Amino acid sequence: MKAEATVKILNRALSLEYAGIIQYSQNAQLVQGLHREIYHDLFKKLSEECLDHAGKVGRWIVLLDSIPTVEPAAIKQTTDLNEMLRNALELEREAYETYAEALKTAQDNPALRLFLEEMVYDEYLQVDEFEKILGKKNFQASAKEARTHKS
Ligand SMILES: [Fe+2]
Ligand SMILES: [Fe+2]
Repeated sequence: MKAEATVKILNRALSLEYAGIIQYSQNAQLVQGLHREIYHDLFKKLSEECLDHAGKVGRWIVLLDSIPTVEPAAIKQTTDLNEMLRNALELEREAYETYAEALKTAQDNPALRLFLEEMVYDEYLQVDEFEKILGKKNFQASAKEARTHKS
């Protein structure tokens, strides 16, 4: 396995997770408005998930005989909820792409592959959530097909 190439990408993923811990934590602290409670809890949960992911990625970097980075990626600061959500979608997309890239380099290590598949899956679902929150989904079904029994 080209462990060096994998470690380089994993360290990039770790930097993104560190950025997420801090960015989402600040989002939770700053978010205002009618929906504060909902978004405070969402951002707090996301920050904790990034911490969980960071621990797992760091463990894998050490498993591959390397030192985990301590540098976070760029952190985007804002006091505007919509911008927080757009920043979140961007961060989740970047994390998804980074784990997907790492997965391509890990094909001959089944355990690492399994781990990365789980990360790709987690990030993919988070991308999907933010696309829904931001109203970016283009549903294929016609309005008629999606109608409930009421109509
Ligand atoms: Fe993550
Ligand atoms: Fe994520």
